Amino acid sequence: MIYAANWKMNGDKDFVNSILSQIKDNILPNLSDGSSLILCPPTIYLSDVTDRCKNTSIQSGAQDCSAHENGAFTGEVSAQMISGTGAHWVILGHSERRQYHAENNLLLTDKLRTAHNAGLKVIFCVGEMHQHYIEGTTREILKDQLSVLNDASLANLNYIIAYEPVWAIGTGLVPALEEIDLIHQFIKTLLKDTANPPKERTVLYGGSVNPDNAKDIKSLASVDGVLVGGASLSSDKFKQICI
Ligand code: PGA
Repeated sequence: MIYAANWKMNGDKDFVNSILSQIKDNILPNLSDGSSLILCPPTIYLSDVTDRCKNTSIQSGAQDCSAHENGAFTGEVSAQMISGTGAHWVILGHSERRQYHAENNLLLTDKLRTAHNAGLKVIFCVGEMHQHYIEGTTREILKDQLSVLNDASLANLNYIIAYEPVWAIGTGLVPALEEIDLIHQFIKTLLKDTANPPKERTVLYGGSVNPDNAKDIKSLASVDGVLVGGASLSSDKFKQICI
């Protein structure tokens, strides 16, 4: 089981120091065999987190990267810079990036390519808006979002998928277990047929994962892990999700 924490734009230096100590002391030693932790702090803290996780099995990742390799792109951080910190992962396609920064398939294809070229592994997020869920067009939306993985430049891209219904993120709402299971199976079928299939078809669930629902979600055979936002900001809650 993969436990990925997306801290989003939260915390400060003290928070990062204290939660890292708690994760290393209280969560990591109690993880079940074969489970792993990926921590995605704000980019400004990525080096600190990566350094402090050296010599442990904890991996770190960024929450986004530039679509460009380098150049005059003020404020941007390249995939190469992320990889240079020693971090292994980058989250791409998160719904907050799609919504607030108008990230579309074209841009995401470029971001995936730069991440791939920099040797980063990608957590690629997909998910439908509430309106799509109500209309019953979730599968069409996911198919379209996943279609970027067919791009010829992404051969051998090292990626996993996070299925995150947009309406479930930060809302306390979660699809029925059966719905999560069916959608994960659907995504895995699509991945099999993509031009660039991943080595292992790993699909995380994300969206209001908390200590009360994690056990049931993790019990689904099609769920390979969870991507946790809000609840990962509390070491207690994150521990209850992971252990
Ligand atoms: P949430 O966020 O756990 O706070 O719903 C998940 C995410 O956005 O990755």
